[in-house]
Amino acid sequence: MSFITQNDGQFPYFNLQLGEPKWQGKKVLDFGGNIGNVLHHPNSTIDHENYWCIDVSRDAIDAGRKSAPNAHFVFYDRYNPEYNPLGKKALPLPISEAAFDFILALSVFTHTSESEMTDFVYQLRGRLKSGGRLAFTFLDPHYTPADSHLCNLKYYGEQRMDPLAMENFFDRAAQFQDLRSCTLAGGTLKINDSPAISDTQETEYLVFYTTQYLRTIFPDTEILDPVPPFARQHCCVFTYA
Ligand SMILES: C[S@@+](CC[C@H](N)C(=O)[O-])C[C@H]1O[C@@H](n2cnc3c(N)ncnc32)[C@H](O)[C@@H]1O
Repeated sequence: MSFITQNDGQFPYFNLQLGEPKWQGKKVLDFGGNIGNVLHHPNSTIDHENYWCIDVSRDAIDAGRKSAPNAHFVFYDRYNPEYNPLGKKALPLPISEAAFDFILALSVFTHTSESEMTDFVYQLRGRLKSGGRLAFTFLDPHYTPADSHLCNLKYYGEQRMDPLAMENFFDRAAQFQDLRSCTLAGGTLKINDSPAISDTQETEYLVFYTTQYLRTIFPDTEILDPVPPFARQHCCVFTYA
């Protein structure tokens, strides 16, 4: 079975980050939206018939369709080493619909390479209507939530890295301070690098960008601090003026 998310806080997260907008009557694209949990939160006011979800997890798309038959679930058979290892390595976005009011992507570009992220963001921006907003999350390696003593890189490194390699890395404080991006791929930390997703077979692939670096990639976006319930994920928001 392909990946099914356990997260259910997508609606409160984006609702807060986007300033509690009116969702009714608005066309929403949830990129990497998995089973569409953003629809099922008790506070969600997104119309099912105005909701599109694109995901590379076939089982998630099937499950999403069953639980929200009036919404639009689209399987995207694109390669991702973790979520769709048999997918195709270059495949255009599978929808022709444009003019979305909101495009959301929670914890999706944390699992794609930098070049794949910039390409998707470019394409997704082109699907917004005038005044529409694209909001996607990212992990800043240096950020430590208020209720934790571990920055994001230490927190995920503890789960995924060899303890000795991690100690060696954090012992060199300057190296950590100068970091602008890094990738934890198959337990190895790649500094200032995110190997092309099409070349990687690592089933664990997690990318981090400092807020300053992300701002250089997307200078015309707003970068917001994390909010609950995803207290480790910053949000990058582009508004099509
Ligand atoms: C960490 S999960 C997050 C799922 C969901 N957004 C949530 O908040 O629970 C990452 C999701 O992105 C999907 N994904 C990864 N690469 C993708 C791509 N290139 N296009 C669309 N979805 C993708 C995965 O299948 C998975 O459902």
